[in-house]
Amino acid sequence: MPTMQAVQIRQYGGDEVLELVECPKPSAGPGQLLVKIHAAGVNYYDVKIREGWLRQFFPLQFPHTLGNDFAGVVEEVGEGVTGFQPGDRVFGLITVFHGGTYAEYLAVDASLVRHAPANMPLDEAAGLPMVGLTALIALVQLGNLQRGQRVLIHAGSGAVGGAAIQLAKHMGAHVVATCSACNTDFLYTLGADEVVDYTSTDFRTIAKDIDLAVDVIGGDTNMRTFEVMRRGGTIAVVLRNDPVEMANRERLCQEHGVEVKVVAFDTWPEGLDTLRELAEAGHLHGNVQSVFPLSEARAAHQLSQSRHARGKIVLKVV
Ligand SMILES: NC(=O)c1ccc[n+]([C@@H]2O[C@H](COP(=O)([O-])OP(=O)(O)OC[C@H]3O[C@@H](n4cnc5c(N)ncnc54)[C@H](OP(=O)(O)O)[C@@H]3O)[C@@H](O)[C@H]2O)c1
Repeated sequence: MPTMQAVQIRQYGGDEVLELVECPKPSAGPGQLLVKIHAAGVNYYDVKIREGWLRQFFPLQFPHTLGNDFAGVVEEVGEGVTGFQPGDRVFGLITVFHGGTYAEYLAVDASLVRHAPANMPLDEAAGLPMVGLTALIALVQLGNLQRGQRVLIHAGSGAVGGAAIQLAKHMGAHVVATCSACNTDFLYTLGADEVVDYTSTDFRTIAKDIDLAVDVIGGDTNMRTFEVMRRGGTIAVVLRNDPVEMANRERLCQEHGVEVKVVAFDTWPEGLDTLRELAEAGHLHGNVQSVFPLSEARAAHQLSQSRHARGKIVLKVV
């Protein structure tokens, strides 16, 4: 039986449970593509899955191959699939129930796959799906962002924040973003108009009359965000609800005339088409700042869980 390398876990736990293993190579079933993975995105979500924080919603069957984002090349086209040929460059996002992308191959429903941006190396394309779709959902679907509006993006130096800055700027917004001092220049290169070093300056002194805030931090940052919002504005929250925040939220929404909307994980293949178009037009870059080989998935997770990674982390498979 042909085999492949993959990074799997056999139990929930710290980064020590990540194992590089030899396991059966899948093949494309009906309606599927077999993709030879070139790179897989590493998301903080993967750390949460590995640690078991999300087991109530996404119980795993072990061994489980981690990873949701991928970019690679089609190797086999399953029965009934149209629109793809062997050799096509593709990218996509899967849920934990579809398998994992920290692997040499992935058999994936063709409906979840799209052609990768023609102008983008596959390592970079692998970093786009989860964070690019999250940013699009926050800014467009939930935030209904309009040209000229004022946007506050927390953690602009992170993967979601970096995608959100680029997209909001492209949409004609005035972008205020937060990060620590070492990353301020980086945020201006992504397109931010104003950057606040959250370690020395309270963003409330700079961010005013915000129409839409994208919050991936939560807690006290979320509470203070209400104070900088224009009445009628929206806070798009990109993380699972914290009980303290939820208890205060209704009161704060009424007090400040603000709506809070929660961004849910979504594989959204049509959104991938939008990301490809934006990337091909030069409006969105993968923002990959750290590349690890598959064998160093543990180091990649350590960087992600530090919560101070800059831009996107990917695992290079080929
Ligand atoms: N709901 C969904 O569908 C969805 C999808 C994607 C992600 N998420 C969640 O969204 C969160 C962010 O993901 P991510 O991939 O963007 O994370 P990330 O890349 O790990 O974010 C790291 C960045 O956060 C910055 N940061 C840390 N503390 C900060 C603070 N108090 N204020 C401002 N910036 C701060 C750091 O900047 P400095 O180093 O400069 O401090 C660092 O650059 C995670 O919890 C993730 O699980 C949810």
